[in-house]
Amino acid sequence: MKHPYKPLVALLLLSVLSFPSSAQQANPIKSVGKVNTVNISGQKVNLTTDQNAFIEVSVYSPSVVRVRMDKQKLGDDFSYAVVGKPKQTKANITQNNNEVVITTDSLVTRINKNPFAVAFLTKDGKVINKDEEGLTTSWIGEEVTTYKHMQEGERFIGLGEKTGGLDRRGSGYTNWNTDAYGYSTGQDPLYTTIPFYVGVHSGLNYGIFFDNTYQSDFNFGASNNRFSSFGAQGGEMDYYFIYHTKLSDIITSYTDITGRMDLPPLWSLGYQQNRYSYYPETEVFRIAQTLREKKIPADGITLDIHYMDAYKLFTWDKTRFPNPLQMNKKLEEMGFKTTVIVDPGIKVEPGYGAYERGKKDDIFLKYPDGEYYTGQVWPGWTHFPDFTSDAGRDWWKKEIKFFAETGVDGFWNDMNEIATWGQKMPNNVLFQYDGHLTTHKEGRNVYGLEMARASYEGSREHLPNQRPFLLSRAGYSGSQRYTAIWTGDNRSEDSHMLLGIRLLNSMGVSGIAFTGMDIGGFTGNPSIGLYARWIQLGAFTPYFRNHTGVNSKSSEPWAYGEEVTEIARNFISLRYKLLPYIYSNFYEAAQTGHPLMRTLAIDYTHDPKIYSGEFDTEYQFGEAFLIMPFESGKNYGKVYFPKGKWYNFYTGEVKQGNQEEIIGIQYNKLPVYVKESSIIPMQSLIQSTSEKPTDTLTVHVYNGDVANSFVYYEDDGKSYDYKKGEYFKRTINFDPRKKTITFDKVEGNYNSNFKNIKVMLHGFEGTTKVKVNNKSQNLTKDFASFLDPISRFDPQGSANPKEGYEVQRIVLKNDKDKFTISY
Ligand code: NOJ
Repeated sequence: MKHPYKPLVALLLLSVLSFPSSAQQANPIKSVGKVNTVNISGQKVNLTTDQNAFIEVSVYSPSVVRVRMDKQKLGDDFSYAVVGKPKQTKANITQNNNEVVITTDSLVTRINKNPFAVAFLTKDGKVINKDEEGLTTSWIGEEVTTYKHMQEGERFIGLGEKTGGLDRRGSGYTNWNTDAYGYSTGQDPLYTTIPFYVGVHSGLNYGIFFDNTYQSDFNFGASNNRFSSFGAQGGEMDYYFIYHTKLSDIITSYTDITGRMDLPPLWSLGYQQNRYSYYPETEVFRIAQTLREKKIPADGITLDIHYMDAYKLFTWDKTRFPNPLQMNKKLEEMGFKTTVIVDPGIKVEPGYGAYERGKKDDIFLKYPDGEYYTGQVWPGWTHFPDFTSDAGRDWWKKEIKFFAETGVDGFWNDMNEIATWGQKMPNNVLFQYDGHLTTHKEGRNVYGLEMARASYEGSREHLPNQRPFLLSRAGYSGSQRYTAIWTGDNRSEDSHMLLGIRLLNSMGVSGIAFTGMDIGGFTGNPSIGLYARWIQLGAFTPYFRNHTGVNSKSSEPWAYGEEVTEIARNFISLRYKLLPYIYSNFYEAAQTGHPLMRTLAIDYTHDPKIYSGEFDTEYQFGEAFLIMPFESGKNYGKVYFPKGKWYNFYTGEVKQGNQEEIIGIQYNKLPVYVKESSIIPMQSLIQSTSEKPTDTLTVHVYNGDVANSFVYYEDDGKSYDYKKGEYFKRTINFDPRKKTITFDKVEGNYNSNFKNIKVMLHGFEGTTKVKVNNKSQNLTKDFASFLDPISRFDPQGSANPKEGYEVQRIVLKNDKDKFTISY
């Protein structure tokens, strides 16, 4: 087999790079050098080079190889992101004079010795990814970078919360968690660091996770036509290379390494009403009551900074909120959960409890001379707990009790980049970094992650057997274990709505399944049409929260007139009817890391059309729905239907895939399509998840040419009893070849909410009878209708009181044993 490198050329280049020139000038770039020792032990290879680089290449699993490098002995193997452990893997490691070859069941890693360079190949010898010959890995001062050969037609996706298009080729990005108020649609960096991306070329795809919390830079062919690269301003080169034939499996492997979310509380999947800020408590009740009166379903009210006394954390403003416990209890009775904002900055004010307790426990970030670091945020001058230490997290956990005792259910972790006025936190602030004392330079990017961890652990401790709900603005890889992430202070502009979709899709492919954006926009005021479109889209995002800034107009669903109220009610109601589907998809996310919002790159990875700027906001919500986001005010738009057949969600009309089409867009109906062979469980309308739906689960099955299955999952939606077997889970299968729909035997001890199952058959024209477990039964005509008509706006609204289309259905007992419908 041809070696991926030409050693001679490389040797020449190396000599140019590594040794002083004839003028005896020191080379400002230190390259990794030529391997001079190799030590193979088990699944690991340790190497050293003539440039004093220390390298470890280890097999993490058959599909994952980790590469660590430093220009000194490798340090303690410590990571905030990584929770997985290397798997015992069959790895064959051989070497000769030129190379070391590591072969697992799915991957070949070839390590060139002169100079050190790594190439990853498929078992049949195709190069998936390799170091760029002549550049490989090098240091400029403390800054370390690995350069990868840019493959023909290579595309790059992921990297979490990053602006730009789906395909990041030609762009470069920086990771440095930043308070990005009112950011522009091309701004970088934003709030969160997820140094994980996926490369796609010639029918192959791979992932690279660069685990380094210093400011890092990724270059996907920006200002160069030669390489892609990733590097950081300090620390080790430490990356995980992941190869699978399916992109979704790459996400699973990445979340094997960095962890997955647990099941969220069901209420957090309902609609959340927010603004900066609702106060006093009478205003909170007015909002809650209006939602109920107007029959706009909702589960959450969120309190922004004005609930506090002078922005002092762990206090309530006694005038605005004289009895928070009573208020929260009353809200609970109305079917609302309360989420409060928590900022890390603790006001410097002698006598203020949290400040005194923080000083006593000595948990604030310090300068090297021992003085506490002071930065300015909402309350004025503040100190910041060091969440990168047990002591700091333990202190915070104790403080969280204050909220648990006042009936709070959710914690919204804001300003945790760390945000300070002036945006220039000094680099000489020290972080404990859990026993690896370091500076702001290495600590900053994990501060948000560790704050969310402390809030999560505090919530677990003080609200026992209750699933925490956490929302965070800043984060790092692994944040998914503790918290949902939202995209901060967006603008009330069409381009921001679409950018928000791309940000959430990108975070989804980067391991963060639970995400949201401020629906309606945070800064400025949306037009009526934009608000209407945004709230429709919000129903198809994982965390569905309407929020707006302190100076903007009211943004509740009734603030934009009667038609918009109806549109909002329609789509929020649809969201509630879809909760069995959405919750099952969260179960999937908890098992596999697969996101709710799926960029089309997950399932149609090698279809070039989906990367085109015209179509790259299209996404799947779960695998069943294809969502086509459009700016408001458009009556027509070009869409792309990927391969397969697609049902118009509202009319049942079928589109053939693999083609572009111009579709008409209605103001009150987000374009939504359903993939052939989909299985979508739905329930009756409820106003809050505290309300029980009727006892019939409606399962929509869409005819198609491909077999499909859906894992239906149900439990109490709030506790951890599911870990003790209190769940109800079954796979529902559609098999067009056998012409069957099967409901597998139920697993788990939980009693389903639903006594009956109504199966609605879409696209099964001409089928009037089925056999259920071999007994013939007639189908009944039914009407598939997902929205109420918008009375005044929709010209057909009054003529067509119930819009939808005819389908066939059958109602069956929700038997725990397997049953089969043959058609
Ligand atoms: C910044 C957050 O991004 C925003 O959502 C919040 O309303 C303000 N801080 C005030 O707390």
